[in-house]
Amino acid sequence: MRKKIVAGNWKMNKDFYQTQSLIKDLIKHKMPEGVTVMVSPPLTNLQAACKLVKDSNSNIIIAAQNMYYKGEGAYTGEVSMSMLKSIGVDHVILGHSERRSIFKEPRHLIEDKVAAAVNNEMTAIFCFGESLSSRKIGNEFRVVRNQLKEGVFRLFGSAWDRIILAYEPVWAIGTGETATPDQVQKMHFYIRKQVAKRYSQKIADNVSILYGGSVKPNNAKEIFNQPDVDGGLIGGAALNANDFMAIVNAF
Ligand code: PGA
Repeated sequence: MRKKIVAGNWKMNKDFYQTQSLIKDLIKHKMPEGVTVMVSPPLTNLQAACKLVKDSNSNIIIAAQNMYYKGEGAYTGEVSMSMLKSIGVDHVILGHSERRSIFKEPRHLIEDKVAAAVNNEMTAIFCFGESLSSRKIGNEFRVVRNQLKEGVFRLFGSAWDRIILAYEPVWAIGTGETATPDQVQKMHFYIRKQVAKRYSQKIADNVSILYGGSVKPNNAKEIFNQPDVDGGLIGGAALNANDFMAIVNAF
């Protein structure tokens, strides 16, 4: 079901105590009807975040920022789906451009992770988006189409109720430079069209497509107003409760 979603990607920010205090701040706010709110603290703090949310009956969803696709075994430093699920986490961000570029996650690994997540009843927030050089030469649609093909288009149609797409042009992430509402709408329309072509209009109409890249309280409304934008994946502005809530309330 297509949903309005605002997800906060905290990245490598907030220690154990800071996480609890930010979650407590968020819980105090009344969440608007019809908006799914998600936050993704660092791995070490997921359990504490889940407990706070559960104890206060909040419907904030706690998501992981990464996972490995194998069930268990000799994979030093990695975390499995069952480990996440055992603490109440069943949403995971995958394919983020920082994982792709800084940690050199290859496309096939991202594809394996997404497939494993959805096959294990987790919801994957699949991130993708072109670099500045690709946009400069007018290649953004081709790049995005290929990322979709390589990341999610081999999944069965039935997996798509556990997929959230997050278009994040690399040149807009953490740079203060936001894609214009028009640029975002054009790309989201294109993405939905590709999903319809590969699967069906129904699946395309049902998938939530988020925009990420320097979404702030002062530009969220304009972006969320676009017909094919179903919300945002928020980095920097998710680290402050008031900023994040202003974005959540921007629909
Ligand atoms: P930003 O990050 O909002 O700080 O640009 C977005 C993201 O990387 O998800």
